[in-house]
Amino acid sequence: MKFATKAIHAGQEPDPTTGAVMTPIYQTSTYWQESPGKHKGYAYARGKNPTRTALEKCIAALENGKHGLCFSSGMGATDAVIKLLEPGSEVITGNDLYGGTYRMFTKVFAKYGIKFHFIDLDDANNIKNYINSNTKLIWIETPTNPTMKIVDIAACATIAKQHHITLAVDNTFASPYLQNPLDLGADIVMHSVTKYLGGHSDVVMGALITNSDSLYEQLAFIHNSCGATPGPQDSFLVLRGIKTLHLRMKAHCENGKAIANFLKNHPAIEKVYWPGFTDHPNHDIAKKQMRDFGGMISIVLKNADLEKTFKIASSFSVFTLAESLGGVESLINHPATMTHASIPKAERELAGVVDNLLRLSVGVEDIDDLLADLEAVLGK
Ligand SMILES: Cc1ncc(COP(=O)(O)O)c(C=O)c1O
Repeated sequence: MKFATKAIHAGQEPDPTTGAVMTPIYQTSTYWQESPGKHKGYAYARGKNPTRTALEKCIAALENGKHGLCFSSGMGATDAVIKLLEPGSEVITGNDLYGGTYRMFTKVFAKYGIKFHFIDLDDANNIKNYINSNTKLIWIETPTNPTMKIVDIAACATIAKQHHITLAVDNTFASPYLQNPLDLGADIVMHSVTKYLGGHSDVVMGALITNSDSLYEQLAFIHNSCGATPGPQDSFLVLRGIKTLHLRMKAHCENGKAIANFLKNHPAIEKVYWPGFTDHPNHDIAKKQMRDFGGMISIVLKNADLEKTFKIASSFSVFTLAESLGGVESLINHPATMTHASIPKAERELAGVVDNLLRLSVGVEDIDDLLADLEAVLGK
């Protein structure tokens, strides 16, 4: 099946008991057993729920993967991947990560004896400088949040395979519509489903997808044992959201392109981060591994201190000032004090997350209204 057909049908069949075309919300915590251990494949809903099973199959299909697991948040999904490791294990990751991922790595898992190397991944070969016999995981995010750097997934996968290291890719910013890391050699794909997959800013959820039976078994064990599993209502909402993923992503990309080009030569803007520009340092890699360039854009305001930046961020009427991204509505975010506040200022600024940087999640509203909103605040 092609992408749009999978988005609408994968994992979903008419309900066997009633014929309901839409997957029912199986609002139950437990299931009848004919005799102990003899049941219909579902024993207790932390482990499995039919609404969630349909969603896991659908997301796995969109990523061209064999197995999918949904978690109660993106962080819950990342947490499960790190729990594959043992004290003494080392992880190589980017120096431009989502703030919550950085916080989990440094504040939660470092104290359990896992060592994280936060490195520049502009050139994937840099990874080789940090590999030793304890290196068990390479964790990358691409495009990066918020400076929209592009990491070469296939190049990372080649290095990971040579050294028998697991490669996990946070594919949240691209969504499976724009990029499929498993096809490029990654072992695990992670999503904050909260974002483009859900698409309507009404659910918090995460997902992991893999082709490896062994990784799936280990991750499913952690999933059930540690319990960060989502409920059936949220699973239903995401199944519904995914049905329009391809339509939404097309509109996000179109609007994103128009806005990036409007901002590029704007007198109030010092810099625009968007991988679709031919002069973006990783444009060629973006073109190679992504189908389009998405609706995530970061801008650095010209001559703006924190006060002026806050004033601008609070002045829009169509763009809403809020954390998160990937919903149908346009959002504006101030990473230094919002999504990335947990990264120390010096480190944050080294990665380009300066006080006058704003991140736009371009929604699917009418482009004329979005451009008019930007013009009203920033000038023509
Ligand atoms: C790139 C990225 N990864 C992971 C997460 C965490 O996901 P969640 O908020 O669903 O826990 C986020 C959230 O903003 C994100 O932007």
